[in-house]
Amino acid sequence: MTWTEFKTGKARAENAMSLKEKIDIERLPQHVAIIMDGNGRWAKKQGKHRIFGHQSGVQSVREAAESAAELGISYLTLYAFSTENWNRPKIEVNALMSLLLQTINDEIVTLNKNNIRLNAIGDLQSLPKRNRDRLLKAIEETSGNDRMTLTLALSYSSRWEIIEAARKLAVEIANGQCKPEEVDQECIEKLLTTYNMPDPELLIRTSGEYRISNFMLWQIAYAELYFTPKFWPDFRKEDLYEAILNFQCRERRFGKISEQLNKK
Ligand code: IPE
Ligand code: IPE
Ligand code: MG
Repeated sequence: MTWTEFKTGKARAENAMSLKEKIDIERLPQHVAIIMDGNGRWAKKQGKHRIFGHQSGVQSVREAAESAAELGISYLTLYAFSTENWNRPKIEVNALMSLLLQTINDEIVTLNKNNIRLNAIGDLQSLPKRNRDRLLKAIEETSGNDRMTLTLALSYSSRWEIIEAARKLAVEIANGQCKPEEVDQECIEKLLTTYNMPDPELLIRTSGEYRISNFMLWQIAYAELYFTPKFWPDFRKEDLYEAILNFQCRERRFGKISEQLNKK
């Protein structure tokens, strides 16, 4: 490490520490979701292949998971591969699947050491068998951990999830388990892949794109949205702290007016 690198690293760590200290631990979002975007552009900017961007993004996943767990966030959900991402060139899809497998293998010890439970949402049946088997094994191996739930959205899209829920609901109605007039919010929530988690309160998207790309459309009904121009491989602990500080400055009214809210 050069002296300049040492100084930059030290300045970064100090900045992260001072941002972390400003966070009000009493008002943390319980669930943070991230659309990890910009790996390809990050790599291309430096003349490298898109796949190098995906590989580099793994460090950002580590930092996001570590910092969220350290703060005391209970649920962190990462959009890692969408239903639509299957339409990318085969070489990129294959590289992403290999990277997923390798990352699970490499990180399982750290997940257990940090008491983090791994979870996955999405059409897991569409993943290659080796990936699915390893993923399910890792989920099983971390199932006793209770500090934070780290959910990977894999082969996930919100419309896929809603269609699946609609199908299950149709079966319940056809079987007479449920009457059409009994269908309410709770009924639908129970049929979503996120049935056992609270809705995300903060949704972060990196890479400067202002869109949701078919992610948790039902669950983000009242999420605070935070967009950063940083590409995912550049996302560091301090970026998560900044997003949370920004979240803590917002007034969440849920349809009411300001005066009705219980202010501290
Ligand atoms: C996000 O980065 C990772 C996945 C969608 C798998 P991208 O691969 O979308 O990178 P950009 O947006 O093309 O730069
Ligand atoms: C969204 O990113 C999906 C993930 C981050 C996994 P994309 O790069 O696929 O989204 P679009 O195509 O720019 O909307
Ligand atoms: Mg993208």
